[in-house]
Amino acid sequence: MDTATLLPTNHSYVSVWAKRCAEEEKSPAIQYERSFLSVSEEKNGKGKMKKTNNRFVNAVTRLERSIGSELRKVLFGPRLRFRLWLKIGTCVVALLLLLLLAQHVLFQPPFCLAGSPDCALGHVVVYVVTPTYKRPTQAPDLTRLSQALMLAEAKIFWIIVEDAYAPSKLVRDVLRRSGLDGVHLLGKTPVQHKQPSAGKGVAPRRRALEWLRANATTPAVLYFADDDNSYDHRVFAEITRVRKVGVFPVGLVGGFGISSPVVSRDGHVTGFHDAYDRRFAVDMAGFAVNLQLVLSSKEPQMPYKLGRLETAFLESLGVALKDLEPLANNCTEVLVWHTKDQRVKFITKSSIAHKKYVNTNIPVLYQNILEE
Ligand code: UGA
Ligand code: MN
Repeated sequence: MDTATLLPTNHSYVSVWAKRCAEEEKSPAIQYERSFLSVSEEKNGKGKMKKTNNRFVNAVTRLERSIGSELRKVLFGPRLRFRLWLKIGTCVVALLLLLLLAQHVLFQPPFCLAGSPDCALGHVVVYVVTPTYKRPTQAPDLTRLSQALMLAEAKIFWIIVEDAYAPSKLVRDVLRRSGLDGVHLLGKTPVQHKQPSAGKGVAPRRRALEWLRANATTPAVLYFADDDNSYDHRVFAEITRVRKVGVFPVGLVGGFGISSPVVSRDGHVTGFHDAYDRRFAVDMAGFAVNLQLVLSSKEPQMPYKLGRLETAFLESLGVALKDLEPLANNCTEVLVWHTKDQRVKFITKSSIAHKKYVNTNIPVLYQNILEE
């Protein structure tokens, strides 16, 4: 009997569907399924139950096949194929764009490359290394330097290294009051290097280099800023332009009263205008280096040798004259001065012993200064 005659209303659709089912009944796959099921029926000896199961399985298989072929038509039918794939493509592109945006916002590197145009936005860190030691002018010197750093249009990280056995309240307070990012370290000069011929501030600078190797992030620029010099805050923004080694004039340096790189008309450093002849005749305040160069160098040198510190350091980085980049408007302006401390007396408590100071501000003033 034809299956279609047994089915009620909605005649045309149902009869087509029924016809297809009848055709599929004869398909080799279904025949195979049937034979498999009847073999297991016989083996189990549970005739009736399995027969019901058999019919049910056949119906489900037919339904599945029918749905499958309809779905295939929808997905891959000639008319819908183009529009569907267009939609899928649009979704994939939108998803990719969304991922890119998320990556840009969430995983943006904190800084640009030193010397790249973005540096003007202040993304490069300038690690400023300042050796310091106890003396009467330490407070005004550090205050002056801290305030120049605070004005800098650059991202400053201030490494203050005390040439001392223990950290002082004065240094801690100056760094805290500045609000700058920074670190307060100790780098005591060993007794055998205390003589003038060993140079000053070597042990603190070595300590800073050690700290940088372990903690610094790049892109960054390193600048050695002694505590007693005078800095125009613009020098720090200027330094962020350094690609390899930036050089610039330093005012009030002994000998000629100024120390400066000599720059040719086409903007190349050809030598130095400095009273002391050295391979790199620059003052410590007259150069800044890309930190990557320092970190990738095997062993940057800072020897205990007066007059050799700067040149030995640059030589150890494998720098050549052609690598020097003239800053400060092609070395035509002074943005840092090598000012020096005057010899002055430390205050002592003995000066306030007089009875006329009792019940006045003077003992408190002395106490505050001595505590620093
Ligand atoms: C000149 C250079 O500008 C310095 O960079 C160089 O370190 C120094 O000569 C040298 O090699 O002797 P100058 O003004 O003579 O500088 O030296 P100072 O300013 O007295 O000292 C340089 C830095 O080291 C300062 O920041 C100072 O506070 C620090 N320092 C000095 C110490 O940490 N410990 C000391 O015992 C003396
Ligand atoms: Mn000095």
